Amino acid sequence: MIIDRIRREDLRNKIMSADEAASFIKDGMTVATSGFTPSGYPKAVPLALAKRAENGEKLGLTIITGASVGDELDGALARSGVMKRRYPYQTNKSSRNAINEGKVMYQDMHLSHVAQFINYGYLGKINVALVEALAITENGGIIPTTSVGVSPQAISNADIVIVEINTSQPMELEGIHDIYMTEKPPHRKPIPIVKPEDRVGTPYIPCDPEKIVAIVECDIKDNVRPLGPIDENSKKISNHIIEFLEQEVKEGRLPKNLLPLQSGVGSVANAVLGGLVESKFENLTCYTEVIQDSMFDLIDAGKVTVASGCSLTPSEEGLKRLHENIKHYAKHCILRPLEISNHPEVARRLGVIAMNTAIEMDIYGHVNSTNIMGSRMMNGLGGSGDFTRNAYLSIFTTVSTAKNGDISSVVPFVSHVDHTEHDVAVVVTEQGLADLRNTSPTERAKKIIENCAHPDYKPMLWDYFKRASSGKFKHQPHIIGESLSWHARFLETGTMKIK
Ligand code: COA
Repeated sequence: MIIDRIRREDLRNKIMSADEAASFIKDGMTVATSGFTPSGYPKAVPLALAKRAENGEKLGLTIITGASVGDELDGALARSGVMKRRYPYQTNKSSRNAINEGKVMYQDMHLSHVAQFINYGYLGKINVALVEALAITENGGIIPTTSVGVSPQAISNADIVIVEINTSQPMELEGIHDIYMTEKPPHRKPIPIVKPEDRVGTPYIPCDPEKIVAIVECDIKDNVRPLGPIDENSKKISNHIIEFLEQEVKEGRLPKNLLPLQSGVGSVANAVLGGLVESKFENLTCYTEVIQDSMFDLIDAGKVTVASGCSLTPSEEGLKRLHENIKHYAKHCILRPLEISNHPEVARRLGVIAMNTAIEMDIYGHVNSTNIMGSRMMNGLGGSGDFTRNAYLSIFTTVSTAKNGDISSVVPFVSHVDHTEHDVAVVVTEQGLADLRNTSPTERAKKIIENCAHPDYKPMLWDYFKRASSGKFKHQPHIIGESLSWHARFLETGTMKIK
């Protein structure tokens, strides 16, 4: 019952329908919402907003979230034309299409920046905070659901707050959250997290009850994303990483239980983490952004003692498993605001081992995580840069080819740069691993081509590298027009191979 979840009695008269709540939101406003990687995002009010536009009302909004959200928000608002601007990350097909068609202005940002950019006012005035909640406390505090994202900053900066209480979210999630917010400089203090398990804040987001103008009941479940099966290639990638980490332990560069792990989004990242279930490593900890299905496997296997993240991001099957064993998983998980889960200060202090997925990498170690063929936005940078730049060890993985072998994921020059040669320590494909620490660009190129490229593309990459190296400049040799022609060739002929 929604009434039981509103513990502050004077707020119970704010219960209304989604349509009534949506009427607080007007054309031209900026709405900051809860939600992170299809978890914990508002659903009923966005659907009501889309309906208004579909009925002919002029309604255009700027939407700020923690990260990707489900179809009820990103999809419905993109298709109805309500979404005009979008920050900072998305994975929805309709919003992706609208961005690539130029209908939605999108700024792809480092996720750790979003909270402070809201606080600094860089993203404009926040008119409305629209947040999904598990419950509202006696003092008006908002208890988030399956993610925290930027809800704390949305709530503290917005003029008004609309709360969707989602009764499909289990009350056992109460207590899993640890809400800590930073001050603006020059008053900012060190974040007192020295271990992934440290709790430093409150289990709810403080909120002035006067700001809450509407409370809506919703029982729509998180529209979670399927995860691809753990295939042979992912298993090979995972094995290369585990072998490498074992060697690092032998060399004395890592403790026996490693350092806190961060693992990125998507099927490959899920599979890589899943590989650790069979490994010899024990007592692992995670300081990461998303907690995907394989984390539940690691917890069940007794391998991971604590997983600190910003959201629970299971597949449909994982969601069922989570709901059935919520008390068990809640004991091992902590959900933090995005600003804290991805904070460079904490990532650097803890010494995370960052493992993220690339779309493509080049022979000198630059990584493209976002733009296919240089200009088609896939999802966004997400938190990959937050962790990569500040990690103890930053690892990028990708399968060596895409689109049935017509694309080499190892290219002479990436068509878009998200992570530079200065930040990437190790790259891995199913073919092998290249340790790029202590290497010059040409040494890197030799390792990456030899260890990571697919055999179909090795001769082409060697040929390019040798011809580029015969030129005048020897440090990072390139034949610029030719390196980028790989992508042009794919766009023209459907394959990077020379026919
Ligand atoms: N060239 C062209 N397309 C490529 C490609 C390449 N080199 N590599 C992959 N793709 C395509 C795939 O074919 C697939 O296309 P489809 O959706 O049309 O089938 C798509 O990109 C996704 O690839 P997939 O192999 O399914 O990858 P994934 O689910 O593991 O996701 C990323 C990979 C890079 C898209 C994803 O990890 C991401 O968005 N990363 C950026 C954000 C991030 O790292 N966040 C983590 C921080 S905690």
